[in-house]
Amino acid sequence: AYLKVDASGDHHPTIPSTLFGVFFEEINHAGAGGLWAELVRNRGFEAGGGVAPSNIYPWNVIGDERAVKVATEPTSCFANNKMALRMDVMCDGASCPAGGAGIVNPGYWGMNIQQGKSYKLVFYLRSIGPVDLTVALIGFNRTKKLAAQNVGGVFTGWTKREVVFKPIMSDPNASLAITSSHKTVVWFDQISLMPLDTYKGHGFRADLAQMVADLKPGFIRFPGGCFVEGAWLRNAVRWKETVGPWENRPGHFGDVWNYWTDDGMGLYEFYQFAEDIGALPIWVFNNGISHTDEVDTTMIGPFIQEALDGIQFAVGPVNSKWGGLRATMGHPKPFDLRYVAVGNEDCGKEHYRGNYLKFYYAIKSVFPNIKVISNCDYTDPSTPTQDPADYYDYHKYTTASDMFRLRHQFDTVPRTGPKAFVSEYAVWREDAGLGSLKAALAEAGFLMGLEKNSDIVEMAAYAPLFVNANDRKWSPDAINFDSYRAYGTPSYWMQTFFSQSNGAALLNATLDDRSSAHLAASAIIRADPATGNSYLRVKVVNVADDPIDIKIDIIGANIDSRFASKKTEITYGGDVMAENTFEEPLKIKPVETELKNPSSKMGVKLSAHS
Ligand code: AHR
Repeated sequence: AYLKVDASGDHHPTIPSTLFGVFFEEINHAGAGGLWAELVRNRGFEAGGGVAPSNIYPWNVIGDERAVKVATEPTSCFANNKMALRMDVMCDGASCPAGGAGIVNPGYWGMNIQQGKSYKLVFYLRSIGPVDLTVALIGFNRTKKLAAQNVGGVFTGWTKREVVFKPIMSDPNASLAITSSHKTVVWFDQISLMPLDTYKGHGFRADLAQMVADLKPGFIRFPGGCFVEGAWLRNAVRWKETVGPWENRPGHFGDVWNYWTDDGMGLYEFYQFAEDIGALPIWVFNNGISHTDEVDTTMIGPFIQEALDGIQFAVGPVNSKWGGLRATMGHPKPFDLRYVAVGNEDCGKEHYRGNYLKFYYAIKSVFPNIKVISNCDYTDPSTPTQDPADYYDYHKYTTASDMFRLRHQFDTVPRTGPKAFVSEYAVWREDAGLGSLKAALAEAGFLMGLEKNSDIVEMAAYAPLFVNANDRKWSPDAINFDSYRAYGTPSYWMQTFFSQSNGAALLNATLDDRSSAHLAASAIIRADPATGNSYLRVKVVNVADDPIDIKIDIIGANIDSRFASKKTEITYGGDVMAENTFEEPLKIKPVETELKNPSSKMGVKLSAHS
């Protein structure tokens, strides 16, 4: 095979600095029980909604029915989430179980409690008489106390209590227990347990946040996906209910992915996370359309106001209503919000285009610099649109061969009009399993096609980003995790090959005709900000069953043995369906070797499926 890379001259097009980013959706417990480091699940006892009795899952009792009983009552001091838990401990002293009777929460399939780290418990309580409670982190088998403290007193009015635990043992499957060995009646609400060492101190689970940051994403799209739409509008995410003090957020049931979220990771936290990982935020808001019901365009006014308020929350001055709320939450400086998306995958719906135009003109009149993303795909002849838009959304889940073929998808798309935002792509189903090498290779070919078409494709993100392996709603996903482990799929590692392309100069990279059925290639050149030196990166993907010898001819650059040169490869012998797992998290990963005798004309062996 033969690849010609033209590095001559200095007028190469620049790849947008946003081209490769990430898409975070609250799916698979990506946020609640994932990136958001809260360890208590259903912390406000609201998971059953605002009527008593409410669903206290996964809270449970310690002790039998003679020792303890619990009930939910709408008597909380928090106006937006009235449900509180009443706990009656009926045993006393020797009649209580060892360690006392009470309540226990295992978090999201076990809390990861580690010796040497600190954990802050915050909770609210009220009692009739004196209470003498033990708050403790307990091991999986409930016999070991990893950390414990006493909380005693009379709490006639709602009182906030804080405890910092320093565990003496580790357990990735721990629980929080609140017990008493004396007769007592006590009410609890808003019980939160967070590790103190979160990513940049902002509440994000450090290992997961770091894995996202390592992709060096140019943008982050959030919070969905279907999560934004809801199966029904009444269950769609409403951003105003996700901001302000965490204790006063009602939480909501995401009815597309079928789980409750306490909304600890709300709109503010998304903007903060974007800032923390150096990515531009892209906010997707509900446009009055769910999977089942729609708001007629004539009545869309309240939804438009909600979107405008959300933009003001991000970029408004501190003396504006919503900018002021942002400031009180800790970020007086506006967030760098430049893009918003009007809905998700709604183009074909009855009221989408009518609603979209109302949103578009309202946003442009109040926030002329905000770029608006339409759901209507300009590459799809079945949904042609002439509507004004800065970008259009393009989603693709398909087979490996189709994804590889789609590297040419944008070659023939008109160069005028809105640019493409490939906000969800992945190989799925039989070719992908839970994340195969085969999927990653086809996706690499697709992304090379996007680099080459980055005059009209400005952003692209794999989807979904995260899965908590205890609740797989969608496969595959780039980052798999449980309470204490995390690994990247081959598709995750594949994306690391592209992170240096953002803002780089794109070189012409041409394969000979015979090779192009099984190979795709692209090349960039850029200055390394760390050293000031320029480097040239040639990427080639081989989807063939056999190794291929390729001759790479770099024109216009004198490359010889004075230059440090490396080859980085992802491959895995012959097994193209191989996956990483918790047991073998790095089975498939990039492997770097020195390139001996680099030159402007060099021969390289490409492994099969690499
Ligand atoms: O990424 C998973 C889902 O796929 C998203 O929620 C939706 O936008 C798409 O259908």
